[in-house]
Amino acid sequence: MRLDVVTIFPEYLDPLRHALLGRAIERGILEVGVHNLRDWAHDVHKSVDDTPFGGGPGMVMKPEVWGPALDDVVALTGPAAADGVLDSALPHVPATVPEQVSAQDRGEDAAAASDGDRRPVLVVPTPGGAPFTQDTAQRWSGEDRLVFACGRYEGIDQRVFDDAAQRYRVEEVSLGDYVLIGGEVAVLVMAEAVVRLIPGVLGNRRSHEEDSFQDGLLEGPAYTKPRVWRDLEVPAVLTSGDHGKVDRWRRDQALLRTARQRPDLIEAARARGDLDRQDLGVLGE
Ligand code: ADE
Repeated sequence: MRLDVVTIFPEYLDPLRHALLGRAIERGILEVGVHNLRDWAHDVHKSVDDTPFGGGPGMVMKPEVWGPALDDVVALTGPAAADGVLDSALPHVPATVPEQVSAQDRGEDAAAASDGDRRPVLVVPTPGGAPFTQDTAQRWSGEDRLVFACGRYEGIDQRVFDDAAQRYRVEEVSLGDYVLIGGEVAVLVMAEAVVRLIPGVLGNRRSHEEDSFQDGLLEGPAYTKPRVWRDLEVPAVLTSGDHGKVDRWRRDQALLRTARQRPDLIEAARARGDLDRQDLGVLGE
C-alpha cells in the first residue's frame, strides 16, 4: 500500500516512520509520501489560504494550490515525484514482503474493497465527515493507495473536492464529535488503524481478529505473569487450561464491559441477532 499525505506541516507526520508503520516500510509492505502543500504555492509568501466569500472569521484554503497538488500526487508528478518518501526509523528489519502477502492477494483485496474502481481514495479529515470506524479501516486496508488531504483554518475550498472526484474516490471522515486544529493528527490515527490490518503487518493474524470492534464488542481485560501480584490473583479460569471455559469467560467479560461502557453497541449486536441465549443470560444477570 502507498499512503500520501498533503499538509502544511510535513514534520507532523514523522511518527509514521516509527514503530509498526516503520517496520512495514522497512519490509516493503508500505510506502509513505509526505508532501508540503506550499510546494504548489506560487506567490512570494507561499500563501495557501484566503478570506472566505460571504464573510466570517478564519481563512479558507485556496483551490489554485490544492488542485495542482492533488493532480500531482495522484500521478506522482511535479513536486510529488521528487519529494517526501519517508524512510523507516527502524532499519535492520529484512526488506522482504512476507510470503503470505502475494502481490496477487493484495490486488484482489484492493479490487474487492473498491468494487473494481482503481481511482485512489482521497481521505479528507474533517469534523463534518462520516464517522471513521473499524469498518472504514478494514475497507481501506485493501486499497493500493490512500491520499490524505490535511486542511487547516476553516477548511478547503469545496470546489477542490468537486473537481478531485474525477480522479479520486473522495471520502470525508471525522474521528469524533470534537474539533482538532487540523487533519494531521487524524491522519496519524487513521493510518495506524488501517496499516495494522494489512495482511502480514501484525505478526499474529489473531491479534486483530480478536480486536475490540472486530465483532462489534469491546475486548475484555487481559492478564500476564505473575499469577499473583500485590495480593491480586489472575482469574482462576485463565490458568485452568480449559480452552472452552476460557473462551466463554472472555466472551462474558466482553459483553459486560461493552454493556458498561458502550450500551449502544450491545443494542446494535442484539438488533443484528449476534447475541445468543447464553449472551443474553449474562447481560440479564
Ligand atoms: N479535523 C478537525 N477536526 C477533526 C475531526 N474531529 N476528525 C477528523 N479531522 C478533523
